[in-house]
Amino acid sequence: MAKLLEINNLHTYFETKRGLIKAVNGVSLSIEEGHTLGVVGESGSGKSQTAMSILKLFEKNQKIYDGEIKFQGKVISNYNAKEMSKVRGNDISMIFQEPMTSLNPIFTVNRQISEVLMLHQGMSKKEAEQHSIEMLKAVKIANPEQVNKSYPFQLSGGMRQRVMIAMALACKPKLLIADEPTTALDVTIQAQILYLMNELKREMGTSIMFITHDLGVINQMADDVAVMYCGQVVETAPVDKIFQDSEHIHPYTEGLLTSIPRLNTDRSSKLEVIPGAVPHPLNLPKGCKFAPRCKYATAECRENEPELKEVSPGHAIRCFHPVKRGKQ
Ligand SMILES: Nc1ncnc2c1ncn2[C@@H]1O[C@H](COP(=O)(O)OP(=O)(O)OP(=O)(O)O)[C@@H](O)[C@H]1O
Ligand code: SF4
Ligand SMILES: [Mg+2]
Repeated sequence: MAKLLEINNLHTYFETKRGLIKAVNGVSLSIEEGHTLGVVGESGSGKSQTAMSILKLFEKNQKIYDGEIKFQGKVISNYNAKEMSKVRGNDISMIFQEPMTSLNPIFTVNRQISEVLMLHQGMSKKEAEQHSIEMLKAVKIANPEQVNKSYPFQLSGGMRQRVMIAMALACKPKLLIADEPTTALDVTIQAQILYLMNELKREMGTSIMFITHDLGVINQMADDVAVMYCGQVVETAPVDKIFQDSEHIHPYTEGLLTSIPRLNTDRSSKLEVIPGAVPHPLNLPKGCKFAPRCKYATAECRENEPELKEVSPGHAIRCFHPVKRGKQ
């Protein structure tokens, strides 16, 4: 299958008074056409900054230091601001964790969705208004005419998130980046939104980069997984390999899997949580970044940094001693 997005050895840093913060520190991953890639990892692992790098939504003190991002074969990481704004509007859109940060509080839903439609699909104001209602129907809003006339503050969190999805899909993107799109919502609404995103992906063939803390959600949503730790991808594979089939697994992924209550069916067994904390970004360990928390760490791990290496087709692990499945 063709690759829609390819990130190779990406380094995105923040320059701060206290030193360089290596938010993205050698990320390599790819997304196939029509696939969902789940990106998972603890807080601070660089998930959002990888997404921001794709769209070049950077702070003033932030830039790409090394590596490249290819979209449909073109190196977009070299694009200037004007070229990038075309990519953002037409090819790649993003849903943020908190919809109020991207919905404008002073405009109605209609105005916000219509603007995208007029700009990117060349519709007239009237056509856009009608289509905006259609988009709201597509994201299963029960009273689309009324919601279309509403301001964001008049809507519930779940409705706002649906409006965000409608807006993100209005330009018919080839890639939708969803950064923890449901963490602020309650469990029932979360399930509905996830179902809806899967349905839209099937109908429109959109590829999705789905960012979450929750491997359980990845299991439900994704075709492929990238596990991140300290600004790097430590393991990437098709979902089935990560959850059951692979012969080997990264020690960090093993830790994440044993911390999922839903997958841990033996209720008498104690839920294992990865000990220790993510290192401070200004004080990263030498060698493997996971070594201080890894129960399999050796002297080699503390001295040298492992590379992301393919262990079987489509499955790569960044570790000197991947864990053999079923063996503790
Ligand atoms: N504006 C900023 N200035 C300096 N460092 C930043 C800034 N934003 C993020 N970082 C750092 O970049 C690293 C990666 O952050 P990022 O937001 O990508 O993590 P994340 O995996 O998305 O975490 P979370 O799950 O909490 O959203 C962290 O060490 C963070 O402290
Ligand atoms: S390289 Fe060593 S420390 Fe790092 S994850 Fe593998 S076994 Fe653990
Ligand atoms: Mg984040």
